[in-house]
Amino acid sequence: MRTLCEKPTESAIRKAGELLRDGQPVAIPTETVYGLAANALDGSAVSRVFEAKGRPQDNPLIVHIASLSQLPMLVKKIPPIVYRLAKLFWPGPLTIILPRSDAVPQEVSAGLDTVGIRFPAHPVAQAVIRSAGVPLAAPSANLSGSPSPTNARRVYEDLQGKIPMIIDGGDCKVGVESTVITLEENGVCILRPGEISREQFMEAGIPVRIDPAVEHELAVGAKAASPGMKYKHYAPKANLCIMKGPLEAFRRYVEEKVDDGVFGLVFDGEEELLSVPCLTYGKKNAPEEQAHRLFESLRLLDEQGAKRVFVRCPNRDGVGLAVYNRLLRSAGFEEITLNTPITVGLTGPTGSGKSTVSAAFASQGAQVIDADKVARKVVEPHHPSDCLHQLESAFHDILHPDGTLNRPALAKAAFSSPEQLKSMNDIMNPAIRAEILHIIHTSTADVILLDAPTLLESGCGVFCDIVVSVLAPPEIRLQRILSRDSITKQQAYDRMSAQPDDTFYQKYSNVILQNNGSLQEISDKASALTEEIFRKTKGGVPK
Ligand code: TXA
Ligand code: MG
Repeated sequence: MRTLCEKPTESAIRKAGELLRDGQPVAIPTETVYGLAANALDGSAVSRVFEAKGRPQDNPLIVHIASLSQLPMLVKKIPPIVYRLAKLFWPGPLTIILPRSDAVPQEVSAGLDTVGIRFPAHPVAQAVIRSAGVPLAAPSANLSGSPSPTNARRVYEDLQGKIPMIIDGGDCKVGVESTVITLEENGVCILRPGEISREQFMEAGIPVRIDPAVEHELAVGAKAASPGMKYKHYAPKANLCIMKGPLEAFRRYVEEKVDDGVFGLVFDGEEELLSVPCLTYGKKNAPEEQAHRLFESLRLLDEQGAKRVFVRCPNRDGVGLAVYNRLLRSAGFEEITLNTPITVGLTGPTGSGKSTVSAAFASQGAQVIDADKVARKVVEPHHPSDCLHQLESAFHDILHPDGTLNRPALAKAAFSSPEQLKSMNDIMNPAIRAEILHIIHTSTADVILLDAPTLLESGCGVFCDIVVSVLAPPEIRLQRILSRDSITKQQAYDRMSAQPDDTFYQKYSNVILQNNGSLQEISDKASALTEEIFRKTKGGVPK
């Protein structure tokens, strides 16, 4: 069979409608992943979907509608909460399991007396459903067991020759399949997490439970509430292992495993720190981006010949729970937890009180890396980075007669223009980063504190599992600077205004310590935080 791949033009959508009415399967884009659609009211059409995918017969399909008016014929009963959920989340990536009506053939529901219904938000999916004139049963358009396709090329790779048509609607926005829920007495239970998150139900005041199979392997012989949850799923050919815990612990572990076919699947920026080949699947604190990129990354791992893949574990809030759930199945539930060392980044504007926090960490046994000291060390004569020599070539006349750096001379030259400042940073930052990494890699402490006023600007934030910012109101900071450093008020103002404002730190930190009270108060806050972090090294799992 020849497989047509067409853009979603009017005529392509008309043709898809004809094929579907004729009992043929057609692959279509949705906002989650591509689906392989068939007339949901025609048992033999639905069988062709199972056949093309090689799908186990006991895994039911979701029925897609393009109008609420299509719902009543598909289900026996519509509890009032369905209208509330529809108003909140439809059209969108939510599938609701309801009692199946007799109009829905056995093939769709794989023998269950329930049926999953979803009203997709993708305009092309809606147009095809309207063009077919019937609700469409559609699983993800991959070969059973492989990662769901998030673009038409991947559908073609899996199903070419097995289906007559693919509609190419570009990249899927969400990237992971819909949230599947059942209704409970006074709320909902999530059987499969997706973009519509636990938090969104809670915000809407709808009690929500997570089925244990979402985050844990089913016990042998246990019955799955959602049959799809029992399979090793979404799996690339490579063997995956999810690694919970801090980045440096991950690095040390993976470094011991370097071998042909060993890969990392890590967060953006971390690949530079590892000596195994790595693919990334988004920024560490960006679950939407991770969801969007996950399945494509899994397929790319196979293409690059990965045999064994160590995966950095995502956070589980929002759509992150769906990312974790898919990874867990891709890994066949293989997980390793490492607890130490945890690297904590400490930053904040001048005068905010970082040193009090740093002292609290030191007193509990953290190894403190003072980035300012590192910056002084890398410009010592004969430092292996050769920094001093490079600075001298770039700026001239910045050395004392004994060959050491004349700091005021360098500062004067560097701060004379933005270009000069950039060229100083371009020389110093790589050397500082390398030195900091060397200290982290050779540390034997359970907790490493990286105290760096420009932690986030210099790109050192990526080394840190937790970023802590200390903030304080400008008046208080000014007082502190004036009583600490011998500079004029104007110089203090200049320094303060050269730094980012509070919103910058809030955006990129995991923890904010407000230092607007007494010294005792900030010490207490710092000690409490330190204790909490040290507790994580004793077995708690860092988020
Ligand atoms: O986003 C999505 O939901 C995509 C797009 C194409 O809409 N579809 C999708 O379908 O992911 P599929 O077949 O790959 O996954 C359907 C999941 C399976 O885990 C299945 O077990 C569960 O939904 N499911 C379907 N009907 C069910 C039912 N009646 N009771 C419990 N679980 C059901
Ligand atoms: Mg699927």
